[in-house]
Amino acid sequence: MRIDPWASTQYRDYLKLREEFRIEDFSEKNLPNPPKLMRRGIIFGQRGFEFIEDAITNKKPFAIMTGLMPSGRMHIGHKMHIDQIKYYQKLGAEIFIAVADFESWATRALSLKKAREIAICEYVKNYAALGLKSENCHIYFQSEKTAVKDLAHKCSKHVNLSEMRAIYGFGGETTLAHLFSPIIQSADILHPQLPEFGGQRPVLVPVGLDQDPHIRLTREIASAFRIFNKKVENRKVGIFVKPDENVKELLNRAKKGIKEHFKDEELKIKLNVPYKALYLEMERKINPVEIEEILIKIEKDFDGFAFYPPSATFHRFMSGLKGEKMSSSEPDYAIFLTDLPEDAQKKVKRAKTGGGVSIEEQRRNGGNPDDCVVFELHLYHLIESDLEVKKIYEDCKEGKLLCGECKKMAAGLMGEFLEEHQEKRECVGDVRDYLEGFLA
Ligand code: TRP
Ligand code: SF4
Repeated sequence: MRIDPWASTQYRDYLKLREEFRIEDFSEKNLPNPPKLMRRGIIFGQRGFEFIEDAITNKKPFAIMTGLMPSGRMHIGHKMHIDQIKYYQKLGAEIFIAVADFESWATRALSLKKAREIAICEYVKNYAALGLKSENCHIYFQSEKTAVKDLAHKCSKHVNLSEMRAIYGFGGETTLAHLFSPIIQSADILHPQLPEFGGQRPVLVPVGLDQDPHIRLTREIASAFRIFNKKVENRKVGIFVKPDENVKELLNRAKKGIKEHFKDEELKIKLNVPYKALYLEMERKINPVEIEEILIKIEKDFDGFAFYPPSATFHRFMSGLKGEKMSSSEPDYAIFLTDLPEDAQKKVKRAKTGGGVSIEEQRRNGGNPDDCVVFELHLYHLIESDLEVKKIYEDCKEGKLLCGECKKMAAGLMGEFLEEHQEKRECVGDVRDYLEGFLA
């Protein structure tokens, strides 16, 4: 199966997909005060998260990169990005948000002007009301950011048409603008590591599973820019120089870097210049993050970009109220942050549940919270206490809680949330603090 970032598919069996796409398991156990999306397994996978965990644990700089598609109204599914970003912002991450106006222009025929209006009045305003801080946060438009466009051009050197076809299923009818939009996104993701935007450091992209093709593409591009290849296996590392120039010097620099870094430990290092390789063996398991940092520092002095491989986490999608993926193009089944609270409550009451066909049956057999949009609302958004959600889950399964009451509770909480959110929204004045290159 292929994941299509431009289709509105609701994926169901995340664990199977994680395996199929070789996405790693995500665990929050080493993170300080993990938010509910992490505690509850809604963030279910990751690529390269070890760099972020290391940065958080050892108080090293790191950045968060995300993007918004300015094509419709912001719904509570979109809110999940901000919930995550706020957590990392508190931990000291620098935040970058791309308004994907080039992407929406290329793939959804939306004018740049309209995209700009939606981004500012709808998204950025909601972000501010949700508590995203403007300090250390940069929101920019793809169409306006020259550094990103230049970097995209350089990225494009490392991808060919067959690869784009294999990843995205592009065919002869695909416009070049559409073909190019994933490359712009790669540049979005890599640009925080350019010297003028903060320099090399781990960058995390928290996304839904639909964005995985872009993540894989960007990780491949980042690696294509690198001078060293490495293979870490437990107590052994192989380091290989890719280009044919400066091989000896690069290997010697790597050797020196490794010796300095592990100066108090027992090491076995072997150089094999004709193979352009260095082999290292240690008494203990080697942390790939340490080796990457040594190599990146060396590469900095040579031509090219020594990007950290971008990291990503993947969250499950919020279901729309009839069970498909929540989408702005199905307004009756999505809850928007600017919905009137009473309208949103009516929508919640119409939502598809996992309840039985009759009250009697549900009392007897229990409901199915694992396939229930109302339970998802509780789990993803409405209830902070893990104990409380657990109780709903168990009471539902045992037939003690019935859908009418459960929906009433969800509708009440949703109404309160929206009312509060909209009051905050009213108080958001100028969003210019968040925006780069804001002209009008
Ligand atoms: N393609 C993303 C979407 O459809 C938007 C996006 C653009 C993005 N640039 C990004 C997401 C960089 C993450 C990182 O929503
Ligand atoms: Fe869903 Fe609540 Fe009904 Fe259970 S009781 S099926 S959680 S609405």
